[in-house]
Amino acid sequence: MERTWTCPTVPLSNGLQMPIFGIGTSHMGGYSHDAIVFALADCGVCHIDTAKRYSCEEQLGKTIRESGKERSKLWLTNKLWPGDYGFKEAKKACMKSCSAMGVEYFDLFLMHWPGLLQSEGSNREARAETWRALEELYDEGVCRAIGVSNFLIHHLEQLKEDCSIIPHVNQVEYHPFQQPIQLMKYCHQEGIMFEGYCPLAKGQALNEPTVVQIAEKYKRTPAQICIRWSIQNGVITIPKSTRKERVKENCQVFDFQLEKEDMDMLGTLHDGRHVTWDPTNVP
Ligand SMILES: NC(=O)c1ccc[n+]([C@@H]2O[C@H](COP(=O)([O-])OP(=O)(O)OC[C@H]3O[C@@H](n4cnc5c(N)ncnc54)[C@H](OP(=O)(O)O)[C@@H]3O)[C@@H](O)[C@H]2O)c1
Repeated sequence: MERTWTCPTVPLSNGLQMPIFGIGTSHMGGYSHDAIVFALADCGVCHIDTAKRYSCEEQLGKTIRESGKERSKLWLTNKLWPGDYGFKEAKKACMKSCSAMGVEYFDLFLMHWPGLLQSEGSNREARAETWRALEELYDEGVCRAIGVSNFLIHHLEQLKEDCSIIPHVNQVEYHPFQQPIQLMKYCHQEGIMFEGYCPLAKGQALNEPTVVQIAEKYKRTPAQICIRWSIQNGVITIPKSTRKERVKENCQVFDFQLEKEDMDMLGTLHDGRHVTWDPTNVP
């Protein structure tokens, strides 16, 4: 499979090309060394999304080395947990994550959440102070791109006033039931690449009658339809599976195209539901 496709990329505002498809490693549902080796070595996957929060940095580093994938051919995203917010803390945590994974740099490093863990202190100040650390890590070359996750328009507007570098990426929940159109437009207008997480709505989208009907039409699976829909909307997507056969299935989305009427039908499924956390009330 590796030889038959090359993952398309999208351009970030700093000129880097980021693969539009990657594999997630969230702690929900556990970690599968074999599924990730299979993704990297047999399926041609070249982009992994992880976070300190997923508690798999050391294992994942080992998995990557075992897969034989060259570091320079892999896009590695990691995230900074709010417990490590603050200038010094953020820099230290990033270096610690690099050493836990046995890598010298991350392709993308994200602030995982717009708020602090405790309610004391100003979120805005904490975000700005932390972002300055990410700017420095970027200048030093430890992070080739820097970004945020779960940030809404007001968080991004404040960061723009407080700091120098506009985030290269914003990673947000995105699937047929959760289509934050205004946020997507804002990111596009500001040159922030929009990345979607939970493309399958953690499995909830796979029984949705419209998704199932479209899957039947194209003789594809519901998961492939959701992933393809993200890609055709220009959204970076990072489905996770611990099962090899599903990892393979989720990668096979570059040899067909959804027609406009089906894209439009999927576009009507938004009901505002979140399958993870919702940053709406984070000041
Ligand atoms: N920045 C953030 O705050 C944030 C939040 C959530 C997630 N994320 C990232 O986004 C990634 C993806 O999100 P997610 O893992 O929460 O949810 P997801 O990718 O939407 O769904 C994963 C679930 O779907 C199942 N699945 C995967 N492929 C399938 C297929 N082809 N057919 C049927 N079921 C399938 C998996 O089970 P099996 O393992 O049994 O296949 C798992 O239960 C995460 O792993 C993480 O890297 C980021």
